[in-house]
Amino acid sequence: MADTSYMARKSVADIVGSADAEGHSLSKTLGATSITAMGIGAIIGAGIFVLTGTAAAQFAGPGIMLSFVLGGIACAFVGLCYSELAAMLPVCGSSYTYTYATLGEIFAWIIGWDLILEYAMGAATVAVGWSGYVVSLLRNIGLEIPPVMAAAPGTVIKLADGTTTTGIINLPAILIIAILTTLLVLGTKESARLNNVMVAVKLVVVVAFIALGVFFIKPENWHPFIPANTGEFGHFGMSGILRGSAVVFFAFIGFDAVSTAAQEAKKPQRDMPIGILGSLVICTVLYILVAGVLTGLVPYAQLNVPDPIAKGVDAIGLNWFSILIKIGALTGLTTVILVLLYGQSRIFFTMSQDGLLPPLFARVHPRLQTPYLSQILIGTIVAIVAALTPIGVLGEMVSIGTLFAFILVCGAVIYLRRSDSNAMRPFRVPGVPIVPVLGILFCLLLMVGLPLVTWLRLVVWLVIGMVIYLSYGRNHSKLRFPERH
Ligand code: ALA
Repeated sequence: MADTSYMARKSVADIVGSADAEGHSLSKTLGATSITAMGIGAIIGAGIFVLTGTAAAQFAGPGIMLSFVLGGIACAFVGLCYSELAAMLPVCGSSYTYTYATLGEIFAWIIGWDLILEYAMGAATVAVGWSGYVVSLLRNIGLEIPPVMAAAPGTVIKLADGTTTTGIINLPAILIIAILTTLLVLGTKESARLNNVMVAVKLVVVVAFIALGVFFIKPENWHPFIPANTGEFGHFGMSGILRGSAVVFFAFIGFDAVSTAAQEAKKPQRDMPIGILGSLVICTVLYILVAGVLTGLVPYAQLNVPDPIAKGVDAIGLNWFSILIKIGALTGLTTVILVLLYGQSRIFFTMSQDGLLPPLFARVHPRLQTPYLSQILIGTIVAIVAALTPIGVLGEMVSIGTLFAFILVCGAVIYLRRSDSNAMRPFRVPGVPIVPVLGILFCLLLMVGLPLVTWLRLVVWLVIGMVIYLSYGRNHSKLRFPERH
């Protein structure tokens, strides 16, 4: 008889069994290097290209370097936990699936709903970052997009004559989401190869920025390294470093997307941990260096602009390099939006197959073989959000939502070690429960760094999700009511 309680959970054996069945159709072609490259492709984006500047100018000053260290430590603990689960449960759906197997359906729903913040809102955030860089690049070649048409309502824009105005709508953000949604609906086979090229371009640009910029640093820009607190929590001083970490935490998001490739890894037990932790380590080192160079080139107070890295390059005074950086940033941001929009549709796909979302989200186009309706719906909503919301608000929502998901993932490792102690664990987190507990504590610490209003938004978001679950998912769940399907 089916378990009809809200805590019904899928068994680890079932999940692994269905993954094996699906695995027959997926070729196991990815080695550790490809998986690491995939991780870097998903990680480096608006976090480093945009939010570093915002966070340095508003919260941490040059101390933003320490914020990256803190964020990196938190992600290392979480990354270890993801590695264990990804190697043990190699299925799509990522943390949603892990939660279904551990804490049960209601928590799985909460995390699936919460992941919308990471994926769909994340895509919107990066699209706003893309918009900032495209406007700046077009300006280089003499094309001026009216600033009010490239910023959300409420965003204060400084005009060249020193006056200020506020944005109306972010049209370039809509444009990039429309283009990428079309690509995903068409499901071009070439997109993976294109992705690799774009990842290479963005890595070269980031490394070039560090290598060239380091010669133009003015050490006086690093003093004071941690500007004195203004009297308000989170505005400089130690609490500013913490808030800075919570904001730039966004920059690390994406390493978890690697876990969805577990079924295609040659040796998941070895390739998953290397891919997840390797991409994390490389990105953390690059981030700390970029943050150091950027705050050394430009006084931190001037970095609250849509294209801070380009501003850093302007300080070097090489015009050709400035254009190159912008092209590289745009390429990098494009890959991240692509991965996030793709990931969102695949998570909805799994949730719909489980009966928690309407069948529409699992409908595949007969010829294109893509979940086209879902992809178009996601694209439309993400475009509207990106057009109308400032990047700071979006980025903080994504950070809090993802931190919350990460806490549940760390919890899942501890829980499964007890409930399914005999399950095959090709990779084991060392020092359980200490490492997952540290992961939880660090994520909580970063969440504490976010403003109260962001917490309230998270609560409202989760309440809306609960209403949807109670009015739809709980009655349509395949696990609890197999006979209804
Ligand atoms: N980590 C990704 C970025 O920074 C989401 O754009």
